[in-house]
Amino acid sequence: MEEYIAKVLITREALGKRVAELGAEITRDYEGKNILVLGILKGAVPFMADLIREIKLPLTYDFMALSSYGASTQSSGVVRILKDLERSVEDVHILITEDIVDSGLTLKYLKENLTARNPLSVKVATLLDKATRRQVDVFPDYNGFTIPDEFVVGYGLDFNEQYRNLPYVGVLKQEAYKVD
Ligand code: IMP
Ligand code: MG
Repeated sequence: MEEYIAKVLITREALGKRVAELGAEITRDYEGKNILVLGILKGAVPFMADLIREIKLPLTYDFMALSSYGASTQSSGVVRILKDLERSVEDVHILITEDIVDSGLTLKYLKENLTARNPLSVKVATLLDKATRRQVDVFPDYNGFTIPDEFVVGYGLDFNEQYRNLPYVGVLKQEAYKVD
């Protein structure tokens, strides 16, 4: 697997340090509030799992699975909910956790969909932000790292469902796109 990585962009150590910083910031901001941490399957799982253990407050967590319509790798902005939340959110502050915000289309749809359910608030924590790719006005409230426009894998991020288990974030070699 690792022979397909051209370079490591964010090391395991840097991920751990930054996630701990985000957890501390969230702990300060949400003191005394009822938080629901919402993981967006599947990419957010490693980030969310590490982040919740750095949030020193009582919380609950749940998951949603979304799929963007259309076969291309580009987000279309039309999103289908494959798995929804298990209960109403009227009494909670929702903190969405995402692996990466790219065009922002998925997140924009999700924020609107959740806001319509009348939670106390909706905020977003993303591990990565490809800010130069943004097509719509949506900004993460907590961001681990702003990265350049390169396709990255690892720590939850996939290419064809592979590489999610790498403990770092890396850039794939060109040849990795040709094998399956
Ligand atoms: P958006 O709607 O364009 O913001 O799409 C975000 C989704 O695209 C993420 O949750 C990822 O699943 C996927 N994505 C965007 N950039 C990358 C990348 O560099 N590597 C892996 N997945 C990516
Ligand atoms: Mg993906």
